[in-house]
Amino acid sequence: MEHQIRRIGVLTGGGDCPGLNAVIRAVVKTAISQYGWEVLGIEDGFEGLIQPGKVRPLKMADVRGILPRGGTILGTTNRANPFHYEVEVDGEIKAFDVSDDVVRYAQVLGIDVLIVIGGDGSLRIAYELMQKGLKVVGVPKTIDNDLKDTAVTFGFDTAINTAMDALDKLHTTAESHHRVIILELMGREAGWIALEAGIAGGADIILIPEIPYDVESITEHIRGRNLSGAKFSIVVVAEGAKPMGGEEVYREQREIGAVRRLGGIGQQLAEQLRERCSLEIRVTVLGYLQRGGTPTAFDRLLSSRFGTIAVHLVAQGKLGQMVALKDERITAVPIAEAVSAQKMVSLNSDIILTAMGLGINLGRKQEEIRAL
Ligand code: F6P
Repeated sequence: MEHQIRRIGVLTGGGDCPGLNAVIRAVVKTAISQYGWEVLGIEDGFEGLIQPGKVRPLKMADVRGILPRGGTILGTTNRANPFHYEVEVDGEIKAFDVSDDVVRYAQVLGIDVLIVIGGDGSLRIAYELMQKGLKVVGVPKTIDNDLKDTAVTFGFDTAINTAMDALDKLHTTAESHHRVIILELMGREAGWIALEAGIAGGADIILIPEIPYDVESITEHIRGRNLSGAKFSIVVVAEGAKPMGGEEVYREQREIGAVRRLGGIGQQLAEQLRERCSLEIRVTVLGYLQRGGTPTAFDRLLSSRFGTIAVHLVAQGKLGQMVALKDERITAVPIAEAVSAQKMVSLNSDIILTAMGLGINLGRKQEEIRAL
């Protein structure tokens, strides 16, 4: 296989996250130094294979100094699905299937294999393009850590460190003012960021999408803390969390080609708590700070390992595979398998047991959670 490869492409798709540049750097360095291949950088995710003029060669000099940089030097978008490419025509939004054009364009560019660095959305697109003849290898990224078949995705560690830092700061002001402070964090479907940052940051209450919450249980917990002398409480809520029998909270506006945006559950919860107790309640939404900044040492290392091994998979002809971390080693798993379901927080995992053991309220009575 190796001798047939001359040129590979690399793109970053979906929401950005710390460590993307470290992967690009590892891909370029390994491809050039170990195999002598050319590397083409595709700008703005799959958009770069839909619109012209968004492809450029990546040489060693192009990746110099990018290891500590957040974001992606290639740019990204979560709005360019070639199978459902939305554009505005005469004031109306229309969707087109441009996937055949994408495969053809990649052939014209002489891309033998495309390395797709993305979350479940981008990797699903990569898998579908593979069915049409494009050769791909995947690298799992998302701060949400909701991709199954890898112990962790890069970007997650940086995100939870950022959130933990915010929690440390919120603690001091909450304590000084005897307030309840709610911190809304990212996490659409899965509550990994909220749960792990919440535990690391000493939160009193953590609400995740996997456990629909009962506002009475939260109120009782806050009252109990006040009675025991702790005159403040810190609540962490994932943006995708919802009350029992209720719905997730979405923002109003929708952009062309984008999925609906979550946001606002923190405020909604604050209103619910204000109806039940007389404490001062404040809300902070950490938002895109979680996606920015320099990657932690863990994420730099994981990204570098992922990028390097992805290139070796290309050389070995292991196409349609995604690099993954399993039992401390980087291995390969079929992309089809990895995107078949999301990795949710398991309610009988040790991390949930840890939260319970620490006396953290997870939005429900512990016996109710055990019965879910
Ligand atoms: O997938 C990561 C994520 O950060 C989600 O937690 C969040 O809902 C989403 O991206 C927001 O993405 P954007 O506003 O860029 O579309």
